[in-house]
Amino acid sequence: MNDVGFDVNRVRAEYPALAEGYAHFDGAAGTLVARRSSDAIATVTRGAVGNKSTAFAAGRRALEITAEARAAVADLVGGQPEGVVFGTSTTALTYLVARTLADGWGDGDEVVVSRLDHDANVRPWVQVAERVGATVRWAEFEPATGELPTAQYHDLVTDRTRLVAVTAASNAIGTQPDVAGIAAIAHAHGALTYVDGVHATPHVPTDVGELGADFYVTSAYKWSGPHIAACVADPGRWEGLRPDKLMPSPDAVPERFEFGTLSFELLAGVTGAVDHLADLVSGQSGPRRERVLTSVAAAHAYEMSLFETLVGGLAGIDGVGICPAPSKRCPTVAFRIDGQHPARTAERLGDEGICVFAGDYYAYEYFQTMGLRETGGAVRASIYHYTTQDEVARLLDAIKRAR
Ligand SMILES: Cc1ncc(COP(=O)(O)O)c(C=O)c1O
Repeated sequence: MNDVGFDVNRVRAEYPALAEGYAHFDGAAGTLVARRSSDAIATVTRGAVGNKSTAFAAGRRALEITAEARAAVADLVGGQPEGVVFGTSTTALTYLVARTLADGWGDGDEVVVSRLDHDANVRPWVQVAERVGATVRWAEFEPATGELPTAQYHDLVTDRTRLVAVTAASNAIGTQPDVAGIAAIAHAHGALTYVDGVHATPHVPTDVGELGADFYVTSAYKWSGPHIAACVADPGRWEGLRPDKLMPSPDAVPERFEFGTLSFELLAGVTGAVDHLADLVSGQSGPRRERVLTSVAAAHAYEMSLFETLVGGLAGIDGVGICPAPSKRCPTVAFRIDGQHPARTAERLGDEGICVFAGDYYAYEYFQTMGLRETGGAVRASIYHYTTQDEVARLLDAIKRAR
């Protein structure tokens, strides 16, 4: 047990893949899968689970698995199960919502996107706006601080704004913008908010209502689960939208937005992952939503204590440059070794069994603005709740050797 009350050894025992011995600083790209999630997936594939039907037990099991997964995501982010739409990825879901919302937009309408966002919460909006003749307005981050100033939204959002797309945390540098403040400005002008929660969900307790997120999207493979994503909105919000769909497929919400047969095994894996997150802190007995909030808060405190060591250590290494970020951030840092291509750094660390990413990780506008895209972006290291102090020391030592 460490001084923030988080038992990392107990948590690590829940990740069979850690036995392979790699130090995983690549959680921002995808975490390892927790035992409860992979067990749940295996159970579905080994047992009698049919397509959804009330007529026989295997069909009822598919219905139950789906309902359980919706309830799990609702507990994770503070939404309602009936408002949870599943899709293959955040990118696919965002294209779906963007195309569907834009059916009601036209000339003179406006959308606001940010240059801090992953391209998954930028390009779908830019492309649908172009298609319907709407105007795109850009929120800028401050290169010197990595902040996304809220005040600029007073100028960016107008009575013609239909949607404000913003990230809950940057997957490049960790910045957590003031989403609630931005949403308040959007709502004051009658605009909707679409919040990319992919990077934030695994690190910070989330409440979509507090964030003011009309839509909140998150991918389970970033929080110990399988490769599937969910978009959460008020069921009434979904009711008002009509995507293209097959004639005989369900018209009810949320099924109206889910195309073809969902992967029941992955849905079971989602529930397993949320149950895992809820029990990161042992000995809790309350409802899962409360356990999730307590556990993720404890994990966050633990992660940030390691992150401080990591960033402090990086700052003390000659020849390492760090992309600036504010203190309100998730535990993710982007850096470069002077004179070394980031891909080369990642390879050298990889040779030592340390997993980091190099490139732009689709934070296209961020690296473009920083003038770093053409020269390989940056190396990204992110802390997750299974990271240890020893691994941080191992990473820092390896970076010193890699220079
Ligand atoms: C912040 C952020 N948004 C969106 C995405 C895209 O998620 P998906 O791969 O589920 O489309 C990612 C993936 O890295 C991400 O980090």
